[in-house]
Amino acid sequence: MSSKKQTILVTGGAGYIGSHAALALKKAGYEVIILDNLSYGHQEIVDHVLQLKLIVGDTSDRAVLDKLFTTHKIDAVMHFAAYIAVGESVKEPGKYYRNNVASTLNLLEAMLAHGINKIVFSSTCAVYGMPKEVPMTENHPHSPLSPYAASKDMVEQILRDFDTAFNLKSVAFRYFNACGADPEGLLGEDHQPETHLIPLALLTALKKRESLYIFGTDYDTPDGTCVRDYIHVNDLADAHVLGLEYLLSGGESDVFNLGNGNGFSVREVIETAREVTGLEIPAVESDRRAGDAPILVGSSKKVKEKLGWNPNYADLKKIITHAWQWHQKRHGDK
Ligand SMILES: NC(=O)c1ccc[n+]([C@@H]2O[C@H](COP(=O)([O-])OP(=O)(O)OC[C@H]3O[C@@H](n4cnc5c(N)ncnc54)[C@H](O)[C@@H]3O)[C@@H](O)[C@H]2O)c1
Repeated sequence: MSSKKQTILVTGGAGYIGSHAALALKKAGYEVIILDNLSYGHQEIVDHVLQLKLIVGDTSDRAVLDKLFTTHKIDAVMHFAAYIAVGESVKEPGKYYRNNVASTLNLLEAMLAHGINKIVFSSTCAVYGMPKEVPMTENHPHSPLSPYAASKDMVEQILRDFDTAFNLKSVAFRYFNACGADPEGLLGEDHQPETHLIPLALLTALKKRESLYIFGTDYDTPDGTCVRDYIHVNDLADAHVLGLEYLLSGGESDVFNLGNGNGFSVREVIETAREVTGLEIPAVESDRRAGDAPILVGSSKKVKEKLGWNPNYADLKKIITHAWQWHQKRHGDK
């Protein structure tokens, strides 16, 4: 076990997954500094809930990074900062390549200039594209279907090249669908705009939205709707701490899927959200969306075997119960 009180920079730590990882790091005894430009993050979460140091700045800004790395001795970086909306990336690819690829390159070069050579990176299962086999393993061929997915794939390639050239060690986690919320109700998902199914269902239950859409009901799946792998954000956060400790104890660069291993259909998610909330959630059946695979389920065998990770919250009802606790607190009418 590595000695605690090492200092970890969490980029994007004011966002959904980064804030949960920052809390997990804090609980594990690390010093944590957050760098977030607050384009989508929530300052009050960092200041009042996490109570961690926040540097408001952009990963594209070398002067900010140089100052940060000179003022603080950073032992490793967890890099969550990115734009995440797949649909928007199709319409505005430059925005995604600039922020997700060019800014990451800037971050990596600044790290190396200051002698920091360990990074945990948020990648995505979207690098695989349409599944050729289910569950998908890390060896599945890559065929990203959007600029967002391509931007993550490019960073994975850069990480491999930077290891070869500069001995930069990385763990890249390819997440399936991140969901749920801190079980104690401190943190949760609050994307603006929201595009993820579980928060959309809960916002509909709270009457913040009129209805939600089911895109496609004629897929070759048990109930005709798409099946996805939902991974609880606290399980993701735990994996990040394990990935970090693996790197701090001298581990080689590697890539891991992070999924629940169980697929749930869109109808199952909505039905479970109705059960958990006890409220109506009107759902409108609509046409298929271009680029949606019928089933996306990941194998997390490798991360279990190599990092000793195991999900604590693989149960859909528990995932939605935690998300509901947070949504009521965040969005419910008082
Ligand atoms: N949410 C998912 O289901 C999912 C799935 C796969 C991968 N990921 C990846 O996980 C990471 C976190 O996703 P999230 O859902 O927490 O998103 P989020 O939008 O809640 O968090 C991202 C944070 O990064 C900040 N940010 C963006 N660009 C920045 C920059 N250039 N400099 C500084 N800060 C910047 C934003 O303000 C935001 O707080 C992303 O890299 C995303 O691609 C998410």
